[in-house]
Amino acid sequence: MLQIQENVSLKNFNTFGIDVNARYFVEISHPDELTELFADPQWLQMNRLVLGGGSNMLMVKDFEGLVIRLNIRGIEHRISHDDVFVEAGAGEVWNDLVNFCVDRGYAGMENLSLIPGSVGASPIQNIGAYGVELKDVFESCRAFEIATGAFKTFSKADCKFGYRESVFKTELAGQFIIVSVKFHSSLIPDFNLKYGAIEQELANRGITEPTIKDVSQVVSHIRVSKLPDPSTIGNAGSFFKNPVISADQFHPLKEKFPDVVNYPAGEGQLKLAAGWLIEQCGWKGKTIGNTGTWKNQALVLVNHGGATGEEVYSLSSQIIDSVYTKFGVTLQREVNIVS
Ligand code: FAD
Ligand code: EPU
Repeated sequence: MLQIQENVSLKNFNTFGIDVNARYFVEISHPDELTELFADPQWLQMNRLVLGGGSNMLMVKDFEGLVIRLNIRGIEHRISHDDVFVEAGAGEVWNDLVNFCVDRGYAGMENLSLIPGSVGASPIQNIGAYGVELKDVFESCRAFEIATGAFKTFSKADCKFGYRESVFKTELAGQFIIVSVKFHSSLIPDFNLKYGAIEQELANRGITEPTIKDVSQVVSHIRVSKLPDPSTIGNAGSFFKNPVISADQFHPLKEKFPDVVNYPAGEGQLKLAAGWLIEQCGWKGKTIGNTGTWKNQALVLVNHGGATGEEVYSLSSQIIDSVYTKFGVTLQREVNIVS
């Protein structure tokens, strides 16, 4: 029998640590419980929020609806020659899944080590880090369609993955609840070590022929040195996306700001480092009331303690304004705003 709780604090359910309440709250431990939940029409009509680890959202005020927290567990795997297929419940912790693979020598996920959150949320924004994105290891996912009560399988093509994008954030937003994700891993590593400081850190450790575990440990080490730990400083990782602009927009910018940090983004476009743009506007490490930007990474907004969602949102608006005024570039929020 499903337990629907009332007036539940979400403070421990979002990594920003924002203290807001949910009017109704339910935890789902099996896909069939979604069928049971939506058999009652009152939940179909109500405002809903699907919640995993709450590590990519900013709660701006109390949520006057039903929060559905995914807690579906279980990891299964099957080996076929050099291919490994791993299927995990939406409520599994992402990094536990990465460790499951790393410990068994299943390659492909090592660069995605230590990303917070759940397996079920990983396709939503096509999580990515250190030159690898979820789409590189994604095989399919199973999702519950709220309107019809049907379970559907989405292939990689169906998901329309892009940089921090998928069909679940665009045309199908709010329509499906992911219950499990299947990954395609391999017994033969094909390392991607070019990004950031991975090669340098391997060299520092005297490692010339890295194992999957070595790469996972190095990525984790680099992440810890840059990003604040949500268990001590509330945050949701990068607050904004790195802006992707056309060559036409880039050339005059480069002329005016020769040091602008940029990377090729395909189809003649360029990706700018939002952290650099924000730092150049003087925001890095600044504290404003209970909020601010992280001292080692200006792209991360933090809760120094007791911040409200409005405070963090207001800071993000000020940052957008100042980056636009200085560079003519509009930052887009990467974090989901729940208001
Ligand atoms: P939540 O925050 O709970 O939800 C995020 C969105 O997905 C919401 O819109 C929610 O409604 C929806 N959702 C969640 N679960 C489901 C489901 N089962 N079905 C349908 N919709 C669902 N992200 C990266 O890509 N790369 C990084 O390197 C990275 N680093 C981070 C570092 C830190 C310190 C932090 C705090 C965050 C970082 N993030 C990063 C962001 C975050 O880890 C990812 O976005 C992660 O996938 C969010 O998972 P979650 O379970 O916490 O999702
Ligand atoms: N930079 C600055 N100042 C800063 C921060 C960054 O100048 O305060 C410049 C530096 O030149 C640095 C470059 O920006 O070399 C890139 O910084 P970093 O390697 O930290 O990566 P990022 O582009 O800021 C992205 C993702 C992260 C992901 C890392 C590693 C986005 C929005 N963010 O950050 O993802 O972990 O790359 O791959 O794409 C997240 O999505 O929450 C997240 C943390």
